[in-house]
Amino acid sequence: MFHIGPYTIDSQVILAPMAGVTDRPFRQLCKRMGAGLVVSEMVTSDTRLWKSRKSAYRLNHAGEVEPRSIQIAGGDPEMMAEAAIMNVQRGAQIIDINMGCPAKKVCNKAAGSALLKDEPLVRNILSAVTAAVDVPVTLKIRTGWDSSNKNALSIARIAEDAGIQALAVHGRTRSCGYKGEAEYDTIASINEAISIPVFANGDITSPEKAQQVLNHTGCSAVMIGRAAQGKPWLFREIDHYLRTGTILPPPQLEEIREILLAHLHELHSFYGDYLGVRIARKHVGWYLQDKPDGKSFRKTFNIIETAAEQATSIEKYFDNASNNGVAA
Ligand SMILES: Cc1cc2nc3c(=O)[nH]c(=O)nc-3n(C[C@H](O)[C@H](O)[C@H](O)COP(=O)(O)O)c2cc1C
Repeated sequence: MFHIGPYTIDSQVILAPMAGVTDRPFRQLCKRMGAGLVVSEMVTSDTRLWKSRKSAYRLNHAGEVEPRSIQIAGGDPEMMAEAAIMNVQRGAQIIDINMGCPAKKVCNKAAGSALLKDEPLVRNILSAVTAAVDVPVTLKIRTGWDSSNKNALSIARIAEDAGIQALAVHGRTRSCGYKGEAEYDTIASINEAISIPVFANGDITSPEKAQQVLNHTGCSAVMIGRAAQGKPWLFREIDHYLRTGTILPPPQLEEIREILLAHLHELHSFYGDYLGVRIARKHVGWYLQDKPDGKSFRKTFNIIETAAEQATSIEKYFDNASNNGVAA
């Protein structure tokens, strides 16, 4: 258990922000499955772009599970402060600042992890945002710009000084992309140096690994990104293991069917049929990626054009799988 401002977080496993993945339906699902906190996809701090369809979905926080943590990205202190205020007006209860994303689109505009190079600017952005809103502000970083510029420790101190209330660290430099092993030693030294909650992120894929990383780093929680795609029950498994030291049995086919059908339904109702059908293809692909017949099923699934047919097709897939005794 740990706290972010007034919020008590009762599970040591957090869903990482992932653009194109952690939309409202997925966040709600992960929360239900045991994530202590879920973070939105990033929203640009350039409020002029908020009229786009993509931003409209990202900015819709109605009926969300609490606390609603909304991530903003940008490189200009005033714009970031304004974006934070506007998100709070729309229901954000935590503002998360993205300085951890290596995406070219973000880096070229001097936002995301590119900012880590410029410590005075980092200080200005963080101070501007914490001064602008009453809700807790959190930060997500990488360990630095590249292997010879690993300044995460210094950024962490700046963050704590500026009033940031929790820090997520992806254990890689920006130039690493997703290559190499995450550096849990650096995360451990950051956690030791500051007293706000630190979340360890990078390559955590199982309950045992989550426990090892928590032991090694002393962090308040682990943050899970890619491993949760198509596997939202990972939160339940990790949470259970951290509490009891025992491994939960994997979900049975019947439960996966229920979870996937409910997720599909949420996607269709949140995005509407046209976009919902398209976004569902990606998620269904993840759910079935390890299944022996997943690949051939995906081929047929991906050409279906209506919400109702997608649901029927998933039902049929699971009916066949249980008749054929396919393991979950
Ligand atoms: C598809 C995708 C989208 C991502 N989008 C964001 C984002 O919007 N904001 C952010 O801070 N990090 C983003 N990340 C980085 C993740 O939050 C996380 O730090 C990274 O995936 C490492 O964790 P993992 O090994 O558990 O996946 C993204 C990662 C992926 C794979």
